Amino acid sequence: MKMTPRSQSRRRHLLGPSGIALIAWAITASAIVAVPCLAQALSVDVHAHRGGAALAPENTLAAVRNALALGADVIELDLHVSRDGAVVVIHDATLDRTTNGRGFVRDTALADLQRLDAGSWFNARFAGERVPTLREVLEVVRGHGNERVRLNLETKYDARGPAPPANFEELVLEQVRAAGLSGRAIVQSFYYPSIVRVKTLDSSMTTAALRSPLNPPLDPVADVRAARADIYSPGFRLVTREAVEALHRAGIPVVPWTVNEPADMERLLTMGIGALRGDGIITDHPDRLIQVLRARGLRR
Ligand code: G3P
Ligand code: CA
Repeated sequence: MKMTPRSQSRRRHLLGPSGIALIAWAITASAIVAVPCLAQALSVDVHAHRGGAALAPENTLAAVRNALALGADVIELDLHVSRDGAVVVIHDATLDRTTNGRGFVRDTALADLQRLDAGSWFNARFAGERVPTLREVLEVVRGHGNERVRLNLETKYDARGPAPPANFEELVLEQVRAAGLSGRAIVQSFYYPSIVRVKTLDSSMTTAALRSPLNPPLDPVADVRAARADIYSPGFRLVTREAVEALHRAGIPVVPWTVNEPADMERLLTMGIGALRGDGIITDHPDRLIQVLRARGLRR
């Protein structure tokens, strides 16, 4: 129908201020719908990578305490085994990068590991930080007032160092169980036989299948299923909206690592990270991620 000046004026009249407000609301609402993943983002667990490696020396009690103080949801840590069978928290197979010691963790007795300084390399104010045992970390987490904070424990298998003992996973599970934290722990690994073993030992344990961007899977859902894992944890550059949707359709949360720039955190939210309970982001900067989530109203 052709609009005459008269019919246009009648239409303006019919709209009135409330009609205009209604149209403005509809335009805003359609803009939200046009970014469906943002509209759907429910919650994103903040995983403090190595305890929050940008803020305190990685994998130390200082880092764990800092992550707890910041309000991280999950504290990610790396596990190796000493010569005498103690599970210790350190990333590399060797002591050289993060302590004043030398040589393989696996070749060093616990008493010698505990004499090392694991803080000064990061900053002089952390001098005297030690390589903690898993048991010490569990004690700190258990004793903390926040009873919802969880641990994401990585069983490290590094081809450049001696293999861990055959009972590595038993040792880890025993200690987590003894601390009463089985329900608040995830065990993750790049080495899938390790997490398959965890499931075999205790089918109620939550496990995560790590994936490096250097070794992308053809089918992430099949990858997770082959590892009998609960969570998919890829290098963040592997994440696509299609992959997130497929994983979510299969009921599998996605927890990408290691995301330190707010722009990358935002991009992951637009890809649907946060739409399924258990989704998270692993970051050296839990402080930044918390800020990004607060700005989006996804966190108090
Ligand atoms: O949690 C995933 C991430 O920790 C894996 O990489 O080398 O920091 O242990 P990396
Ligand atoms: Ca790790």
